[in-house]
Amino acid sequence: MGVQLTGRQREAGSLLDFIGNTPLLRLRKFEQRFASVELYAKAEWQNPGGSVKDRPANRMVLEGLKSGALKPGKIILDATSGNTGIAYAMIGAVRGYRVRLCLPSNVTHERKRILAAYGADLVFTDPLEGSDGAIREARRLYATDPDLYFYPDQYNNDGNWRAHYDTTGREILEQTQGRITHFVAGLGTSGTFMGIGRRLRDEKPGVNLISMQPDSPMHGLEGLKHMASAIVPGIYDPTLADENLGVTTEDAYACVRRLAKEEGVLAGISSGAALAACLRVAERVGSGVIVTIFPDAADKYLSERFWEIPD
Ligand SMILES: Cc1ncc(COP(=O)(O)O)c(C=O)c1O
Repeated sequence: MGVQLTGRQREAGSLLDFIGNTPLLRLRKFEQRFASVELYAKAEWQNPGGSVKDRPANRMVLEGLKSGALKPGKIILDATSGNTGIAYAMIGAVRGYRVRLCLPSNVTHERKRILAAYGADLVFTDPLEGSDGAIREARRLYATDPDLYFYPDQYNNDGNWRAHYDTTGREILEQTQGRITHFVAGLGTSGTFMGIGRRLRDEKPGVNLISMQPDSPMHGLEGLKHMASAIVPGIYDPTLADENLGVTTEDAYACVRRLAKEEGVLAGISSGAALAACLRVAERVGSGVIVTIFPDAADKYLSERFWEIPD
């Protein structure tokens, strides 16, 4: 007689079931400088595609399948600075859909390799136009043949922030037993900040929501946007944040190096930026439970020169 599988057991086996439920990492070495601060980071690199973007990509694809906008034979198309593309490429491979991605040609070699390994088609755009150039190209491609493509448009798709409202935000509340006092996250499409921020606000109205972004238009914080000089995502609502901090690329690099040496965490650059913002908040408040997001790991940035800068 065969073994009867039920509930989660029956789902076991699909890579997509590994998305979410990431651990919450306590950063004890960084806490030490402050009177009574607890500092935590959601270890989003533990998602199967290696980043936080597995959550919204999976949600937007599922919604497309449910609504019928994504049907067999269609190509998943989007503009992405990398991680959402990696997530779509992984999901496309699992589900049997072709994936076409528009991205600035200067994204790291490692990212291009990863996307090609999953079998995605890459459309490179002018590096001087940054992620906005990629967005314009995706819009142009979609307009030329709307029947060929499923275009989730992560910058304007409510599924992006709702993925975080339903999963990441809920997980943070559970993992801190509702003790979180401050939430800090970087802004790219803003889906992470909007979704988690709204969930926390709904369940714990007194929580402080602090968004973070690059302090200038020309920056090295891959995945993040300098909103004042960028195409502002449709899902972004600047009034949600209690405060918005600007972080320099140099501070982010320094925090990435410190995370490796002091906590043994090889994190990506936007994680360093998140930590830099958290340390500023901790300095000011002196006590509290601060939670941030570490969107990805260092593997895609290992060839960058900033690792060699002595501290
Ligand atoms: C490395 C990295 N950090 C941060 C973000 C920002 O996340 P969000 O788009 O949810 O604002 C992204 C988004 O692509 C990213 O790739």
